[in-house]
Amino acid sequence: LRHFLTIEGLKKPLLTEIMDRAEQFSGITNRQVKKVPILRGKTIVNLFFENSTRTRSTFELAAKRLSADVMNFNISTSATSKGESLLDTLHNLESMHTDMFVVRHNQSGAAEFIAQHVSPHVSVINAGDGCHAHPTQAMLDMFTIRRHKNNFPDLRVAIVGDILHSRVARSQIQALSTLGVGEIRVIGPKTLLPADCQTLGVHVYHDMEAGLEDVDVVIMLRLQLERMQGALIPSAREYFHCFGLTDDKLKLAKPDAIVMHPGPINRGVEIASSVADGPQSVILEQVTHGIAVRMAVMSMAMGAQSEQNELPA
Ligand code: CP
Repeated sequence: LRHFLTIEGLKKPLLTEIMDRAEQFSGITNRQVKKVPILRGKTIVNLFFENSTRTRSTFELAAKRLSADVMNFNISTSATSKGESLLDTLHNLESMHTDMFVVRHNQSGAAEFIAQHVSPHVSVINAGDGCHAHPTQAMLDMFTIRRHKNNFPDLRVAIVGDILHSRVARSQIQALSTLGVGEIRVIGPKTLLPADCQTLGVHVYHDMEAGLEDVDVVIMLRLQLERMQGALIPSAREYFHCFGLTDDKLKLAKPDAIVMHPGPINRGVEIASSVADGPQSVILEQVTHGIAVRMAVMSMAMGAQSEQNELPA
């Protein structure tokens, strides 16, 4: 694993290794001494061309806990605003002996483009590109599901909302399929589901009540308004009525179903506050797991072996 750009094409043993390794790191980061020397001497640049709260912060914490040096490249105060091209910016940062770029961009394919143009010793991790992929988010979601539910083939998972514009949903569906989840459902209005839904191996529901029946995991998504130029955008009230997750709708899922959301959440649009903050919600747990999962991915991309002797007992 040199680059981590998409879940597509990755095999089940690799996804399992990421989760197993994250499990080891999770044990470490819960202790008083949170650091391990695995990436000491490495330089990691967070290259975020699009805003982020959770992903950027947890990548930074993950890198620091692996003892790497981290630079958060600030696009708004950089020479990008003076017309410097993406590649020139990249090569200048690379000349500072960077070992890894963590890239977020609003254009699908940006992380792959960067990966094609970096030196052979440099790794690129995709932290979300356009509507295309958000592989580390999908892996922290799989890790969270495994913590609560254990056996993927026994599970029925529903992903609800704006699937069409969601890089998270795309990566989640790929990861869930690879891990052999029993049934994947997507629930949303026709206008917010991809035309190729059937080829993704998912069951499609336009009625939320029907789609939630007996599911083990409910993953809510926000409306990605920033990616809907020219589209017919539903009003928040109308959307919440049809596709917002309320306590009553959640009762249709299994009694021990967990509620997930990659964030940022829009309360009263796709999810009621009582559900987001309720006993079945694991939304903040997902954020916490982001640190261990990103430690796992970064250490694997840098070629660090997962031998137990690298980790403090
Ligand atoms: N889930 C996620 O990608 O959140 P951020 O945009 O805050 O990074």
